[in-house]
Amino acid sequence: MIAGMGITLFAACGGSAPKEEKAAESKEMNQYYEEEKQKEDTKVADDGKGLGKFTDVKVDPKLDKQMADAGKSVYDVKCSACHKLTDEKLVGPGWKGVTGKRSVEWIMNFSTNPDEMLDKDAIAKGLLEECLVRMPNQGLSDDDARHVYEYMRENDGVK
Ligand code: HEC
Repeated sequence: MIAGMGITLFAACGGSAPKEEKAAESKEMNQYYEEEKQKEDTKVADDGKGLGKFTDVKVDPKLDKQMADAGKSVYDVKCSACHKLTDEKLVGPGWKGVTGKRSVEWIMNFSTNPDEMLDKDAIAKGLLEECLVRMPNQGLSDDDARHVYEYMRENDGVK
């Protein structure tokens, strides 16, 4: 015990020990930075737009009522069986607030390309874990998808 302390003290005062400690420390730091960098890289890879053909959709801050009405017709026929307009889950999540949570590209990609996204997109995979049902592809056209998105915006209070 006493001998051990002696050695510790000696080592702490010796010339080489602090250097070794520093080396160990910087090795740890390097590893830390490496891990952080990898996290950054995956963040960049997941740009929040999901997977599919929509990479850059321009949305006017004002609601396009015509589009929203067309979107409602699509919703009534193809989506309402599984999605409520409130935040309440049916088969899938309720749509209230979804346009605030996800990008327009993500929503349109998911609406038209659910299969690939359920396999590869982290958010979609998380939803699947909660809902336990794979959303079937609804065969939407690009316009349908844009119109439904506008209807979601109206549902979220955009005027
Ligand atoms: C048979 C049921 C079903 C139908 C019909 C359906 N969905 Fe889904 N939807 C789901 C489920 C379940 C999820 C959650 C992800 C999963 O488990 O596949 C989901 C998730 C979503 C999400 C993500 C919601 C969020 O909170 O991020 C969007 C957007 C979406 N659906 C759009 C649509 C659109 C648009 C239609 C109609 C064209 C539609 N869905 C029709 C079952 C359905």
